[in-house]
Amino acid sequence: MIVQAIGCIILLGILLVLCTNGVEGRKSARQSRKYGCLEYAAISCRAHGASLADFGGVSDGTTSNTKVFQAAIDHLSQYSSEGGALLYVPPGRWLTGSFNLTSHFTLYLDKDAVLVGSQDESEWPLIEPLPSYGRGRDTDGGRYSSLIFGTNLTDVVITGANGTLDGQGDLWWKNNVIVQGITILAPVTSPNTDGINPDSCTNTRIEDCYIVSGDDCVAVKSGWDEYGISYGMPTKQLVIRRLTCISPTSAVIALGSEMSGGIQDVRAEDITAIDSESGVRIKTAVGRGGYVKDIYVKGMVLKTMKWVFWMTGNYGSHPDNNYDPNAIPEINNINYRDIIAENVSMAARLEGIAGDPFTGICISNATIGLAEKPKKVQWNCTDVSGISSTVTPKPCDQLADQGPEKIALCNFPEDSLPIESMKFQMCSHSWKFL
Ligand SMILES: *[C@@H]1O[C@H](CO)[C@@H](O)[C@H](O)[C@H]1NC(C)=O
Ligand SMILES: *[C@@H]1O[C@H](CO)[C@@H](O)[C@H](O)[C@H]1NC(C)=O
Ligand SMILES: *[C@@H]1O[C@H](CO)[C@@H](O)[C@H](O)[C@H]1NC(C)=O
Ligand SMILES: *[C@@H]1O[C@H](CO)[C@@H](O)[C@H](O)[C@H]1NC(C)=O
Ligand SMILES: *[C@@H]1O[C@H](CO)[C@@H](O)[C@H](O)[C@H]1NC(C)=O
Ligand SMILES: *[C@@H]1O[C@H](CO)[C@@H](O)[C@H](O)[C@H]1NC(C)=O
Repeated sequence: MIVQAIGCIILLGILLVLCTNGVEGRKSARQSRKYGCLEYAAISCRAHGASLADFGGVSDGTTSNTKVFQAAIDHLSQYSSEGGALLYVPPGRWLTGSFNLTSHFTLYLDKDAVLVGSQDESEWPLIEPLPSYGRGRDTDGGRYSSLIFGTNLTDVVITGANGTLDGQGDLWWKNNVIVQGITILAPVTSPNTDGINPDSCTNTRIEDCYIVSGDDCVAVKSGWDEYGISYGMPTKQLVIRRLTCISPTSAVIALGSEMSGGIQDVRAEDITAIDSESGVRIKTAVGRGGYVKDIYVKGMVLKTMKWVFWMTGNYGSHPDNNYDPNAIPEINNINYRDIIAENVSMAARLEGIAGDPFTGICISNATIGLAEKPKKVQWNCTDVSGISSTVTPKPCDQLADQGPEKIALCNFPEDSLPIESMKFQMCSHSWKFL
């Protein structure tokens, strides 16, 4: 059986995630018409299953299936503690609003199955803000539920044979909710992640992604000011590798600005960016508290960039006026190596916080080719300290060059994180096709 890795579509903001592994086995299923076998790779397989069609779903693209999805999942939730369940979504256009998943559950989208996001606002309930944010991130009050949603879930798989999630997000742009781009993801494997926005997540792996975004391609977060500090849940042990990103107005990978629960042990490797504002950017502010530390970046090829290195200590943006002005973030041990960039306006804009410098910055083996009309000053460093080795153009004095023999500076850790060794297993599911 050949398992193909296939692409998927994500719409940001409504937070849709679709990642699929295709299956050749379905052909035999089709041929036998009534019975077949799904085969797919996933972290865990399920003992039970049902088709959306069994619950009266209509795939004409205009009939709402919100209640059908919810009824199917509520029904299947009874199997959570009995080996879990799979919901099979057959080919067709399935219009739906937001629905909630359950634990130990797999949502399987067959080939040519399209989940079409409803444009009827009443299909998108307003829910409580995240406790680590205290309020809606973009407006006061709650937040809209995502198309595929759930809280306190464990062991959820969204997979299939190259189905599509089409959020029809333009309604939300026009609503002035900030949805700044469309994201297209090629094969992605990201256990334990909320997609491209890991927020207070431990052990996350994002790999083999192709992302086009009006915002950051990956934004790593962990709560906002006093709410994030009191919730205290960091994002840590995050692996990002083989990422290709286009984000003309934002970063390839942003750390923050909501980082009040802390961000630690991020390893980013083999990153390619075309036309982005900056590479791996750190954003924070007085009042955030928290930390960004032990960040390792290795192997970036960047083309057309405003700033390769960008750190911002005065990002501002507070949930309310009750943030603690003494809650200053700790930024330490930030490593970048093996970087080739071209068509760059300015190598680095590194702005720490007065009285709270960003420390332990290490940059080695970076060759930055400049744009036709580059900035006169290539490195602007304030309230930062660290070292560099074999970097052109010449870094600022705060990151004085240690010479070519120190090229091994800023080394990537040699150990591997637990999430790196997590493997998929092949699942198969006997199937009765209606
Ligand atoms: C989905 O979950 C959210 C938060 O847990 C809850 O507010 C909402 O009512 C749930 N929706 C349904 C249809 O159960
Ligand atoms: C999720 O878990 C947290 C902590 O255990 C709890 O406070 C919260 O009420 C739960 N939320 C839902 C929707 O079950
Ligand atoms: C997967 O779906 C996408 C979008 O519908 C399509 O462009 C692509 O060719 C499909 N890939 C395979 C292997 O079927
Ligand atoms: C410097 O980086 C390039 C790729 O950017 C890599 O091919 C080369 O091996 C690196 N040199 C050293 C000494 O690590
Ligand atoms: C270089 O970057 C500028 C924008 O700063 C862009 O207009 C131009 O097309 C780029 N040139 C190349 C060769 O990519
Ligand atoms: C350097 O950055 C500081 C802020 O940290 C700014 O005030 C200053 O104008 C910048 N200098 C140049 C030459 O860009």
